[in-house]
Amino acid sequence: MVVVSGSNARPMAGQLAAELGWAHHSIETRRFPDTEGYIRIPDEMIDSIREQPVVLVSNTFPDSGIIETLLMLEAINDVRKGNLANLREIGPQELADVGPGILLAIPYFGYSRQDKRFRPGEAVSARAIANLLASRCDGIIVFDLHAPQVLEGLSVPVAYTSAMPELAKHLQESVNPDFILSPDKGAIERASEVANEIQCQFSYLEKTRIDAHTIVHKAKDLDVEGKIVAIVDDMIATGGTICRAADALRSQGATEVHAACSHGLFTGGAVARLIRYVDGVHATSSLKNPQDVIPGGPALARGVNELFEVLNWN
Ligand code: R5P
Repeated sequence: MVVVSGSNARPMAGQLAAELGWAHHSIETRRFPDTEGYIRIPDEMIDSIREQPVVLVSNTFPDSGIIETLLMLEAINDVRKGNLANLREIGPQELADVGPGILLAIPYFGYSRQDKRFRPGEAVSARAIANLLASRCDGIIVFDLHAPQVLEGLSVPVAYTSAMPELAKHLQESVNPDFILSPDKGAIERASEVANEIQCQFSYLEKTRIDAHTIVHKAKDLDVEGKIVAIVDDMIATGGTICRAADALRSQGATEVHAACSHGLFTGGAVARLIRYVDGVHATSSLKNPQDVIPGGPALARGVNELFEVLNWN
């Protein structure tokens, strides 16, 4: 088995390959002067992609990641089908079709927050992208997806995997929190899993988003006086959600506040803003970010193993 990656998820692909004890190869990626992308599977990778199942690790973020993922899947499919005909007539032009054997592992699924049609006429973006990718692989592994329901009924099996066990272990070892807080109802399941692993208290806030930059947190009575609290969410983007939650915690007497998430998007100077509100910021390497301290490889490996069982590839 082999792990391959393009330009946007190499660290996670490396962690996955190390976890599974498989080889990891990089697909060639470049950009033309007009910004369009180019990908090519190097000659020396062709045999390994044809001889065994392949796991492509790639993000659908930023937008260029969607195109790159699609192009890499297209090229892997062609190589496995034996469609190698090329204008320069390099190498064999055609080989036998080696059949199914392509999994796509998506550490960060861009557009996951547009998982519903909130107003008439909107695209359900997450669904549109998932359908496109599912048409070119045999199974998808998604890592801490914002709202898993959006991938229900896809044409290929989906393994939903999560780094919450590793996030809990990391927090316990580095912060030793007394209290875990979910900043809104959407993160309750994830955050309560972390609280259960650590065996500490748990609660959540009621969040109302006014717009992309304005959030109101309804403060409820939290028993956080003199306590170390870790706020756990699936992603941190502008940091607004965490900053407001940290304010609510400080006003109720928390002595130390940490923020932990799977996906560190950290848009528009978020880390600089966050460190004025919290004592520590902890993320995985699903996206390239300066707070990458939680390993994501083990969770991806659990997803890959699950799909190998479902597809009977063992
Ligand atoms: C929303 O429901 C998500 O789980 C996150 O809480 C949110 O996307 C974080 O965004 P920001 O950091 O911009 O507040």
